[in-house]
Amino acid sequence: MTFIWAIVVVALSVYALYELLNIQKRKRYPPGPTGLPILGHLHLLGKNPHKDLQKLAKKHGPIMYVQLGLVPTIVASSVDAAEKVLKTYDHIFANRPHHEASQHLAYGQKNLVFAKYGVYWRNIRKLCTVHLLSNQKIHSFQSMRKQEVELLIQSLKKEARDRVVVDLSARILSLNANLTCSMVFGKKYVDEDLDKRGFKAIVQDVVHLSAAPNLGDFFPFLGAIDLQGITRKLKDLSKVFDEFLEKIIDEHVHAHEQKQNKDFVDTMMDIMQSGEAKFQFDRRHIKAILFDMLIAAMDTTASSTEWILTELLRHPQVTKKLQKECKKW
Ligand code: HEM
Repeated sequence: MTFIWAIVVVALSVYALYELLNIQKRKRYPPGPTGLPILGHLHLLGKNPHKDLQKLAKKHGPIMYVQLGLVPTIVASSVDAAEKVLKTYDHIFANRPHHEASQHLAYGQKNLVFAKYGVYWRNIRKLCTVHLLSNQKIHSFQSMRKQEVELLIQSLKKEARDRVVVDLSARILSLNANLTCSMVFGKKYVDEDLDKRGFKAIVQDVVHLSAAPNLGDFFPFLGAIDLQGITRKLKDLSKVFDEFLEKIIDEHVHAHEQKQNKDFVDTMMDIMQSGEAKFQFDRRHIKAILFDMLIAAMDTTASSTEWILTELLRHPQVTKKLQKECKKW
């Protein structure tokens, strides 16, 4: 009996000490709601976490601390706070936490969006800024962009003449897939080249699964158990992408012609083969960056264009002004 009491007393002392140390640590954090011992503040988030966080921020301030499982999190909820995080102190917040989706889809977080802060992060950013996303490189694809947009306009004009109903969202997405594939891979690909589900469904799955609340992100030791079945879906998607990207890289290896306008794959293959990178840079890194470019470019540009067109339809005066400006070009 004395032995059991001794264990209880030791356990309670350890817990009290842990809490005490945690309180000392928490003093350095911004204010935030009271949390639970293991969940932290996860129980306060529902179907719309952004709205729940907004409500909490109204009470606790524009820079608020919450603990999402084991992940300490700072929530910035005003323009000024966002500027401090993204601009003034961006080097402090540049690191990325463990992210199950990028572990599976981006070869162990080797992509730009989720790379851990450090030597690789610095080198890969420099490489992308200088060689892939420079003004000169983007400018080199201008005639391709013009050609693709003209094709869409011509077909929309014809459909308007014939009074055919058009799903503009689908057409914008398809235009974007063409623009992105031409710039990144050097040619257009049709839906079936990626998977029978097509680009739209696959890209939406990636965006959805990457943003879905995943227990493995908040408690990394739970990732392997896959309680929500997300890892299984991520592995399926990563297989689809890996096969697609391997095929594209192989096509580039076997194409011997000297291209005048190099796509992103050509540029990265040149860097890999020249040894210019001076850090480990192999096919996995190329595939992770290609994956990032494809996902980062397609959904963002398509939804921005869709919203811009919606707003233009709602504001005919602004449309007229824009048309006038375009005619001046
Ligand atoms: C209207 C279209 C676009 C919007 C609204 C958009 C928006 C964003 C935003 C908000 C971020 C996060 C920035 C941050 O965390 O600091 C981002 C990152 C990124 N975007 Fe875009 N983007 C667009 C188009 C593109 C295109 C066309 C590409 C590729 C050709 C691209 C490639 C990237 C990459 C690689 C990153 C990660 C950069 C990093 O982590 O440093 N984006 N984008």
